[in-house]
Amino acid sequence: MTEIFITHSIPENGIKMLRKRKNIKLNIYKGSKRITKKELIKYGQKSDIILSMLTEKFDALVINKIGSKLKMIANYSVGFDNIDIAEAKKHKITISNTPCNAVNEAVAEHTIALMLGLAHRIVEADDFTRAGKYKGWNPTLLLGTDVLGKTVGIIGTGCIGSAVAKRLQDGFGVNIIYYDIKKNKQLERICKAKLCSMNELLKKSDFVTLHLPLNQHTRHLIGAKEIAKMKKTAFLINTARGQIIDEVALTRALARGDIAGAGLDVYECEPLIDCNPKDKYELRKLKNVILTPHTASATIEARREMSKIVAKNILAFLDKKPIPNKI
Ligand code: GLV
Repeated sequence: MTEIFITHSIPENGIKMLRKRKNIKLNIYKGSKRITKKELIKYGQKSDIILSMLTEKFDALVINKIGSKLKMIANYSVGFDNIDIAEAKKHKITISNTPCNAVNEAVAEHTIALMLGLAHRIVEADDFTRAGKYKGWNPTLLLGTDVLGKTVGIIGTGCIGSAVAKRLQDGFGVNIIYYDIKKNKQLERICKAKLCSMNELLKKSDFVTLHLPLNQHTRHLIGAKEIAKMKKTAFLINTARGQIIDEVALTRALARGDIAGAGLDVYECEPLIDCNPKDKYELRKLKNVILTPHTASATIEARREMSKIVAKNILAFLDKKPIPNKI
């Protein structure tokens, strides 16, 4: 009997695929709060496979404490920075994730929603209207900017970064420049995107958007020095991982008006919005930011597709077949 521990409920379609299989025992975490480290270790010790969320941290300590029964961590997310991959390899634990078109679409749309929201000051305008401050049309009221024709700098042009580029180019005729570790010929062909240095991208872009994984090379990729290179009128969007930006540096720059604004779905000390809420500047208090709670991929379509993919990864592992999304 293969024991599979699922750390959080997910859409039923994937669970049904697993239930159909004989000799599998599913144990879905029932706690009303998020699973603790101690519980993760306790359940992990009894399981062959853990179907985990990006919020469960599998660091060396957890992996070592869980011990030798565990053979697979099937992460229900695209990012896998919650897992110490080197340590998992040492223990011969197979890791998989759930990249898919539905997630690319969802995150690309959310990124564009943040851009439009910032450019058209939608959240500020909503607050203003609800507060009863609207006293009649005024030509200078809440002036924003167009997205049309602007330069968008994409850092990381994998599936999500490329989806953002395609949608923006089709709908808004923007000029796409990008920074990546290698040339993206397809994007250059489809979107006339131009590869440039990070320096050039930061200097030229009206919108800078991040679409790269978190690892030791990308942590604090965007800090005070990088932000200082951006235009005063530029916006920074992050739907990737919070730790890619030095959030204290960003918060200060936003408070001083060094850049025009930011659209953030992820945070350096998530789920905290400000790492140090006692700091002089807090993201939550700034008008020129739009904050969403790591929901860029939270569409029904994406969550269902992820559920199917995580089940497929597990079933392939059990059948000793190539795992579609093995890390
Ligand atoms: C969400 O952030 C994911 O990695 O799936």
